[in-house]
Amino acid sequence: MVSFHKQFAPLLFGAGASGQLAAQLKMMGCKKAIAVTDKGVIAAGVLDKALASLKAEGIPYVVYDGCLPDAPDTCFYAAADMARSEGVDAMIAVGGGSNIDSAKAASILIKDRTPREVLFAPPGPDSPPPPPRRPDVKLILIPTTCGTGSEETAVAVVSDSKTALKHGIFLEGADLSVVDPELTLGLPPGLTASTGMDVVCHACEAYTTTSRKNPISDQRAHTALRLAAKNLPLLIKDGTNLEARTSMSLACTWAGMAFNDSMNNLAHGIAHAFGSKSHLAHGIACALAEPPSLELFVNVVPELVRDIGVDLGADIPENAAPAEIARLTGERLRGFMREIGIPSFEKLGYTREQVMDHLDAAMQEFQVKLAPLEVTREQMETLLASMYDDYR
Ligand SMILES: [Fe+2]
Repeated sequence: MVSFHKQFAPLLFGAGASGQLAAQLKMMGCKKAIAVTDKGVIAAGVLDKALASLKAEGIPYVVYDGCLPDAPDTCFYAAADMARSEGVDAMIAVGGGSNIDSAKAASILIKDRTPREVLFAPPGPDSPPPPPRRPDVKLILIPTTCGTGSEETAVAVVSDSKTALKHGIFLEGADLSVVDPELTLGLPPGLTASTGMDVVCHACEAYTTTSRKNPISDQRAHTALRLAAKNLPLLIKDGTNLEARTSMSLACTWAGMAFNDSMNNLAHGIAHAFGSKSHLAHGIACALAEPPSLELFVNVVPELVRDIGVDLGADIPENAAPAEIARLTGERLRGFMREIGIPSFEKLGYTREQVMDHLDAAMQEFQVKLAPLEVTREQMETLLASMYDDYR
């Protein structure tokens, strides 16, 4: 089998990595930067920590602090305008996935302020490629959460402020990703659990999206699953455990690289439907959709589902029948979710009818089509019901 792998950005990884940011900027020849972030990151003191080396080395920077969840166009156009008027030569995203996606999108608008109607036009055979980044403005991505893996992926998931629809803007690459687990030490248990389950789901889906998986993405998905299975429960008990934070940051990085190749599938498609329609947190929505997705996949790729179950710590005999693989993997994954405190739909205040009401939206999601089988409307109905009934 011949496969194609591309890494989105050079990676500086490890506890304290952000301390080397100024040295990296100097090597790139950067003289002035813009930080693209939000007010929460600033209030938590994380921006100062991430950019401490710039202050120490006297590299000036301005701050765009208007990033919002779901990366609406208003934010990334404003960040691009500020970068242009300030004459910066480096754009540094600091924060969660939305901040990183905002900076990724802003980076292609510094040179050419492409109108939003053109940027969000549905792709077609005659549609122009996305505008290139300005090569003299470096793009550096620094995550302060541990889930989306956006610093490793070629797509910026953004939203149209007029229609609330989500769009993916593809980039050729970034100049540097800096993954510093010390920046994640202050994440509260609830956010650690939900973003951690996003990592688990990226790995499960990269491993089962059969059209584009490859030996490299497979190994990364395996490693991510094993690291998350061991370290997420430790972090729920003690969020200051730097060794466990480092392992989860590594899991997030591996899973991000895995799905940058292979793409996500069914659970992410369903999660996007819940995100757009009822603003359910991405990691929780993915988590609730993953066990029944794997139980469905067992009909076509039982060996892949077994591998996932084993990586998560289930004891599944090699000659187990598909139904047994589904039962043991589903039990293990739901048990893991309970252990780290992922809430059920019931606890979140949803009725069963409200969950089932997402059927049409889920069927329209692109990623549903990347599942290893063609998901029928009846199967989706069963899956949504299971999300409510089988995880209480
Ligand atoms: Fe995700």
